[in-house]
Amino acid sequence: MICDNFDDIYEIVSQARKYTKDGKVADYIPALGEADPNNLAVAMFDGNGTCLSAGNVEETFTLQSVSKVLSLALALLDNGAEKVFTRVGMEPTGDPFNSIAKLESLKPSKPLNPMINAGALAVTNMIAGAGTEDKLGRLLEFIHDLTGNTSITYNEKVATSEFETADLNRALCYFMRQHGGIDGGVEELMDLYTKQCAIEMDCEDLSKIGYVLANEGVDPVSQREIIPLHIARIVKTFMVTCGMYNASGEFAIRVGIPAKSGVSGGILGAVPHKLGIGIYGPALDEKGNSIAGMKLLETLSSRFDLSMF
Ligand code: DON
Repeated sequence: MICDNFDDIYEIVSQARKYTKDGKVADYIPALGEADPNNLAVAMFDGNGTCLSAGNVEETFTLQSVSKVLSLALALLDNGAEKVFTRVGMEPTGDPFNSIAKLESLKPSKPLNPMINAGALAVTNMIAGAGTEDKLGRLLEFIHDLTGNTSITYNEKVATSEFETADLNRALCYFMRQHGGIDGGVEELMDLYTKQCAIEMDCEDLSKIGYVLANEGVDPVSQREIIPLHIARIVKTFMVTCGMYNASGEFAIRVGIPAKSGVSGGILGAVPHKLGIGIYGPALDEKGNSIAGMKLLETLSSRFDLSMF
């Protein structure tokens, strides 16, 4: 058992923490700039309990792009795959997460995948509900089911900070609306999207979400299917091909775990049939991934033989 052997985890975290000094906290969303760049935490969940946790595990953080995995699962539940993939593609981009370039160059104009901002905005636009509050409430309920933690909500300060500064995402929305890729008001969508990105938890909660995905959508305690198998598979496949943005190829080789990062420094990992992993380390590399978190995952993968390949 992986978790019977974690005596050296504190050493692994302290070695990985050294890399935080080579990274930088995201500050294009001003409230994220307040994070302590030295923080690093990991939790691993094996279905029976948190079998391993180390570092600044008490820290909470907002999901940012990690939420794209959850909004995709919910939109697939609400609409079915056929409809969702009329509005968003299935291919990696090789571009930065907020790039607009391919929306213009590809005909017909459609975001290449749901893990880049354009694709995630199109997906969030498909979440069912009467209005922003209802849609966000449904997403939060879904997250409560996945984590078993009903106190999870969004961080208002971070949501407002992004809402007030998200001109690039607004530009993506206006472009897509002109081409029929999103419906309704751009401000309403930005309101929902920024609140979705500001959903806040700790790395233990995140590891539980990873475990349900790893366990083919089934809750380990109740044995209830929270995510149908075919949706869990779609989501994990996107995590492999696009989850770490334009670093996904190298990550698959070095780590080999379906994973999704966010600019707050969170990384969600799902080791099929084995483990959920939650990481937090807000110092980022130039592609927007947690610099020490990536290093930590690389070490954990080789130490515990976690690569799926
Ligand atoms: O839309 C944005 O720019 C942020 N709310 C999320 C971006 C993000 O996390 C990309 N991650 N690497």
